[in-house]
Amino acid sequence: MDNNNLAEKICGLKKKLNAVILAHNYQLGEVQDIADFTGDSLELSFKAAESKCDIIVFCGVTFMAETASILAPGKTVLLPVLAAGCPMADMADAKTLGELKKKHPGALVVTYVNSTAEVKAISDVCVTSANAVKIVSSLPVDKEIIFVPDKNLGAYTAKKTGRKMVLWPGYCPTHMRITKEQILKRKREFPDAKVIVHPESTGDVIALADEVLSTGGMMKFAKNTDARRVIVATETGLIYRLEKENPDKQFIPVSEQAVCPNMKMTRLDDVLLSLEKKQHIIKVPDEIAKLARKPIEKMLSLSR
Ligand code: 13P
Ligand code: SF4
Repeated sequence: MDNNNLAEKICGLKKKLNAVILAHNYQLGEVQDIADFTGDSLELSFKAAESKCDIIVFCGVTFMAETASILAPGKTVLLPVLAAGCPMADMADAKTLGELKKKHPGALVVTYVNSTAEVKAISDVCVTSANAVKIVSSLPVDKEIIFVPDKNLGAYTAKKTGRKMVLWPGYCPTHMRITKEQILKRKREFPDAKVIVHPESTGDVIALADEVLSTGGMMKFAKNTDARRVIVATETGLIYRLEKENPDKQFIPVSEQAVCPNMKMTRLDDVLLSLEKKQHIIKVPDEIAKLARKPIEKMLSLSR
């Protein structure tokens, strides 16, 4: 079946089943094109929480579908490809975090949404790359902070807020592939271009940015900037949407190697199969969901 036929079938079945398709900004273009909404982690969390549909098909990675399941417990959340995980989320586990908390009594645990439900369940507040600085700034100044699991987003947030933080040593393997040298090369090639960088990148890469933004923030920047060219330091999937929505501007990926294999696993036939077979259901166990909901909802209320 070609993509047009697949898209038509998906659309028909979606209506019949009262389903909504959410896609992250790094998904393949073919998936973004059939989604009801494409966005960053924070935008997708809001959409999942507000959805009136019976089924949410989450085209992204496991922690995103888990977050949707936690926020919409009465709905069926489907992840079309079960193997689509996030290596950074898997770098933090609840047992080790529990031990770290004991070593820092009184510290607040700030957890990036790129984490497992079990880790969220023993956290005080969640953040995304779109709101980490704002949320950490709102926390009592006398409290120490444990930031989990992204050391790069944590270091950036600590620098911006001046807060003392214990950083978990996790990272995004895809953003770690972006180097300072690559950005300097792009800047020499396109001296008139603005540089936008995702905060999962390393500190020396972030230091070269005109703006440090979530993928949703990058979309807004691209729309509003007067610059005709933008050098983009994040996963390459975002380039598809940037070009589609801003045909008059040029977007230059810093590195063609900045590809997240997990974000590229989902194809249209997986989405169709997911709807046809109601697979793969992501359901966070009630007792974990109940605990994990608190830090996620706290994040959503602080982000409004
Ligand atoms: P945002 O889209 O929230 O900026 O996050 C990027 C990411 O790595 C998701 O896995
Ligand atoms: Fe995880 Fe990085 Fe892939 Fe996002 S881009 S899903 S943080 S590995």
